[in-house]
Amino acid sequence: MKTLNVAVVGATGAVGQTMLKVLEERNFPVATLLPLASARSKGQNLVFRGETTAIEEACPEAFSDIDLAFFSAGTDTSLSLAPEAVKRGAVVVDNSNAFRMNPDVPLVVPEVNPEALRTHQGIIANPNCSTIQMVMVLKPLHDRARIKRVVVSTYQAVSGTGQEAIAELRTQSSQILLGQPVKPEIYPYQIAFNVLPHIDVFDETGYTLEEWKMVRETAKIMSDETIAITATAVRVPVMYGHSEAINIETEKKLLPEEARAILAQAPGVVVVDDPRENKYPLPTQAAGRNEVFVGRIREDFSTRNGLNLWVVADNLRKGAAYNAVQIAERLLTDGLL
Ligand code: A2P
Repeated sequence: MKTLNVAVVGATGAVGQTMLKVLEERNFPVATLLPLASARSKGQNLVFRGETTAIEEACPEAFSDIDLAFFSAGTDTSLSLAPEAVKRGAVVVDNSNAFRMNPDVPLVVPEVNPEALRTHQGIIANPNCSTIQMVMVLKPLHDRARIKRVVVSTYQAVSGTGQEAIAELRTQSSQILLGQPVKPEIYPYQIAFNVLPHIDVFDETGYTLEEWKMVRETAKIMSDETIAITATAVRVPVMYGHSEAINIETEKKLLPEEARAILAQAPGVVVVDDPRENKYPLPTQAAGRNEVFVGRIREDFSTRNGLNLWVVADNLRKGAAYNAVQIAERLLTDGLL
């Protein structure tokens, strides 16, 4: 089998670390692994497949011998280095927001729109974590009943912000329990024992960029501009796993049991929906798993064709690293790499 020289940019970060785990778990055909990070991490080691590997500083020349590069070091690093990697012959799967809405860049969830990969020109964008888990559930329902409108509220884990935010939630939690004062650094307010209706930056509409990502990326991935979507994105004091309350209105009536049956057949989706037994998806149970979990599927009695759903996934896995590795696997099997 073809093996590849693989770079992981942001290898020390929350997504990068998960990426290394997923590459190992999937037995991805890595010939050599090149972990890249900022100058701060140069010379440190990490272990991949039992072997100690030195972290190098990400710079254009680092990609000279690379076939495939996963980027998870933020938008600025992607903007400056992803084109350099492509120039040197690598295919890039980028986890940042840098290229997602570029019409020449496929934005892909492999269970939803793998065909978009066929036209790639070197960079493939991995969608926003909240968008990925939402479209995994919307697409099969849309195919059956045509979704007209979506109202979504998210409950997003701090790991989506990165390692420093994970540390901040830990520190603040213990400080508060010890009665000590807290000093917010990563978030504008205390995140421990709190809920912040603020993810990414606000624009002049009063919405945040995270909320607009869910609107715009969903239209692109589903190739459908006609679905009306509105989002409220909220950060909650959870380490791993994003949750979403999703309300949909469909053209054709979909009963909860029909939706349950459709979703039970959907690849990568697991239905956990037995309220009498207190069974519903939870971030603590989704953490460490690659699937998207859906439950609380029930009729919205306030409208004619409405459904409510509760969707949970590990934001570092299906929301980031696992989806990126799935993209690479698909590129390989389709001869696009
Ligand atoms: P480093 O650890 O050297 O700072 P997270 O999302 O968990 O905050 O992680 C961000 C990742 O992006 C880290 O691996 C970090 O490396 C990396 N990173 C940050 N800035 C740069 C940069 N300018 N060039 C390359 N990697 C960067």
